[in-house]
Amino acid sequence: MKDAEGVHFLQWCLPKLGLIWPGYRKVQRQGFDHTAEGSLIKAEFREPVTFVEQDIRHTMPRESFHLILCRYLVFTYFDAPLQGKTLQHVQERMRVGGALVIGRDERLPGGELGLIPWSQKAGVYRRASPAIVAT
Ligand SMILES: C[S@@+](CC[C@H](N)C(=O)[O-])C[C@H]1O[C@@H](n2cnc3c(N)ncnc32)[C@H](O)[C@@H]1O
Repeated sequence: MKDAEGVHFLQWCLPKLGLIWPGYRKVQRQGFDHTAEGSLIKAEFREPVTFVEQDIRHTMPRESFHLILCRYLVFTYFDAPLQGKTLQHVQERMRVGGALVIGRDERLPGGELGLIPWSQKAGVYRRASPAIVAT
């Protein structure tokens, strides 16, 4: 998705999701260069971001993260064994204290290992334990 499409997508979907993002207008004003062709995220915000296209069933980034967003794919479309395996790999990449966000309508499979609900209503889980079960 191009940056300008991302802005339009956010403008379209946030109200539909009932989400109010108070900082949105500020971000839109200060975070983007607005041109006749559309809006482009400023280089200072865009350049530190790495985009990688991967099939999550087979590969994931090696790094660990403070925040992982994993909505409406793994815990909606994958079968139970693949959900469990993918969740384990996701957990291995979460920093202790880090958060996993899934869809509001989704549920984590059993065997959540070190994850505790932070806001189950919002689909946010936190990695509490340093113990990692490797496969
Ligand atoms: C229903 S959309 C959810 C998009 C977004 N996560 C959200 O919450 O709005 C599912 C996304 O998963 C991507 N996808 C499908 N199979 C995938 C796979 N095996 N590995 C990684 N991404 C995949 C699709 O391209 C699509 O962008």
